[in-house]
Amino acid sequence: TWSTEEIEKRIREIKKEFGSRLFIPGHHYQKDEVIQFADCTGDSLQLAQAAADNKEAEHIVFCGVHFMAETADMLTGDHQYVYLPDMRAGCSMADMANIKQTERAWERLTALYGDTIIPLTYVNSTAAIKAFVGRNGGASVTSSNAKEIVKWALQQKKRILFLPDQHLGRNTAFDLGIPLDHMAVWNPISETLEGPAEQATILLWKGHCSVHEKFTEKNIAHIRKTKPDMKIIVHPECTHEVVQLADLAGSTKYIIEQISAAEPGTKWAVGTEMNLVNRLISSNPDKEIVSLNPYMCPCLTMNRIDLPHLLWSLEAIAEGKGVNRIIVEKEEAKQAVLALNRMLSI
Ligand code: 13P
Ligand code: SF4
Repeated sequence: TWSTEEIEKRIREIKKEFGSRLFIPGHHYQKDEVIQFADCTGDSLQLAQAAADNKEAEHIVFCGVHFMAETADMLTGDHQYVYLPDMRAGCSMADMANIKQTERAWERLTALYGDTIIPLTYVNSTAAIKAFVGRNGGASVTSSNAKEIVKWALQQKKRILFLPDQHLGRNTAFDLGIPLDHMAVWNPISETLEGPAEQATILLWKGHCSVHEKFTEKNIAHIRKTKPDMKIIVHPECTHEVVQLADLAGSTKYIIEQISAAEPGTKWAVGTEMNLVNRLISSNPDKEIVSLNPYMCPCLTMNRIDLPHLLWSLEAIAEGKGVNRIIVEKEEAKQAVLALNRMLSI
């Protein structure tokens, strides 16, 4: 077995050999050991844009989770190959909506509301769901642009079906002034609408992120009591109660920007994934930064990408037989790109 130094040395060699023919995007939740080799880091919107803008890399080794690699494959050319260093790097939230459930929900909801609904999907969803949304006139959203896209959608139709994260959907709609009693939740297991069906304009899919649900009102009360001068900043995948009690909420990019631009000596409790919180701590030594949940919250699937998997993926490319290629079927990709491009152009 190789030492960490040997693995790092070999990764550097392969990167040098391939130059701009190889591109490694890294999501903010990736481990430091991986991020050090990323050619670009970002939130999911930035990484989708970076993939769409990159016309020259033949090999794109995506350090993130499966849906992000699928998005990269759909937004890049046929001569560009996307790989995921570990196929087990999925997203439990994306897995909470499958296409069969979605089609059944749509059937039921359009029977109830007629042609008054537009579907939106958080990018944390499979290509099949994005394709469904694309062919039904909707768009994808990320946590950085959710507000603009929800506003746009409400100009198209009276109602939105928001997949698959109920929290991002609820938090975004509430921010736009839509009261909670105008939101209902579609339960894909019981196939029922929970809440005020008659007046609902926002139909939230009953999915969530198991990492961000670990930040609680109790965690917030504890910080307020023990560190009253600490600012609390959270990701909008946290529950509505947590987002309301926090001082600030936004995407991973927003969280990084807010903390980096803050005055030295300021104090922050951060409600998002552990690798990003740890990186914020080490890159802002002049500030006091803690995880809002003291037990820290890792995203286990993001963490599946590590140094050995990255090297394994790169070595296979160097040998001319890339592994774990992510390929979205052509017709599905065409429809999903409609949803992605609507998002990128709004
Ligand atoms: P961002 O869009 O903020 O990068 O979030 C992606 C994600 O998976 C959060 O859990
Ligand atoms: Fe999915 Fe949550 Fe992990 Fe983000 S943090 S990739 S939403 S499971």
